[in-house]
Amino acid sequence: MSNQPSSSGLVLNVVADNSTIIVIGNEKGGTGKSTTAMHVIVGLLREGYAVGAIDLDARQGTLSRYFDNRRIYAKKEGLDLPHPIYRAIGLSDLYDFYTAKKTDRLRLADTLRELSATCDVIVIDTPGSDTPLSRNAHSYADILITPMNDSFLDLDLLGRVDPETNEVHALSPYAEMVWEQKKVRAQRDGSSIDWIVMRNRLATLDTRNKRSMDEALNGLVRRLGFRLAHGFSERIIFRELFLKGLTLLDIRDEGANVILTMSHMAALQEVRNLLQAIGVPEAVASPDAVVAR
Ligand SMILES: Nc1ncnc2c1ncn2[C@@H]1O[C@H](COP(=O)(O)OP(=O)(O)O)[C@@H](O)[C@H]1O
Ligand SMILES: [Mg+2]
Repeated sequence: MSNQPSSSGLVLNVVADNSTIIVIGNEKGGTGKSTTAMHVIVGLLREGYAVGAIDLDARQGTLSRYFDNRRIYAKKEGLDLPHPIYRAIGLSDLYDFYTAKKTDRLRLADTLRELSATCDVIVIDTPGSDTPLSRNAHSYADILITPMNDSFLDLDLLGRVDPETNEVHALSPYAEMVWEQKKVRAQRDGSSIDWIVMRNRLATLDTRNKRSMDEALNGLVRRLGFRLAHGFSERIIFRELFLKGLTLLDIRDEGANVILTMSHMAALQEVRNLLQAIGVPEAVASPDAVVAR
């Protein structure tokens, strides 16, 4: 583990005896959490960080499957791809709710302790539902990234919006949960959670929905205390890469066998913008970048 900037001059705050923890969370399924997690993980790996990943959605296991696919594809094609260390934690099936909750907490704490011995950054992918384990994970976040589909249906998980004025008149359960976990975090170690909300599957055209969402989200920024990052557009490439376990950050590698288009390059820039927003200045596979294998 290192508290020095890497050779590529990263500014992400990594302290000597602690890993930076990035949680990808939203109580709704299908908003792009696992897709975002994969891109953030590979972006960090390509900048030379030692990265640990925890899949808390072990039932669906999307993130774990992504990494399995990545290893298989890299081996088959002889690719030298960077890989994280990853662990999956499923919900305890103990009958008693409180014992199950305690067991889950301990397993998460143990896994974090284990990974932080060797990892600079730990990325946690969470399920699209409210579970005690997911709540608990949020309380460890140094950075929380919430991807949401660009729709008022998804926005409703953050705040209740007046249909006439687009103003927010009440907080929603997920926002309240984040607020609670911010308090838990502050009590535990006096630090705070940097909350980033990103829109996913954005229409590439300027639509009325997009503009109304802009207005409503900007209203929520102050109220909920998050930062808005420019998200990902709706692009087929985000879906196509799963089977190979690749991300947009890998597609220019020799052997990736992806025919590059303008849309791919635009998508790659969107991923870079997100990495920049979380403090990884330039996720470029520059010739002298240290890549963790
Ligand atoms: N920007 C995007 N453009 C197109 N498809 C996307 C995009 N982001 C995610 N998807 C697709 O949407 C679905 C849900 O994404 P996923 O990352 O599994 O969400 P979650 O983890 O929140 O359930 C998947 O089929 C994924 O490939
Ligand atoms: Mg998922």
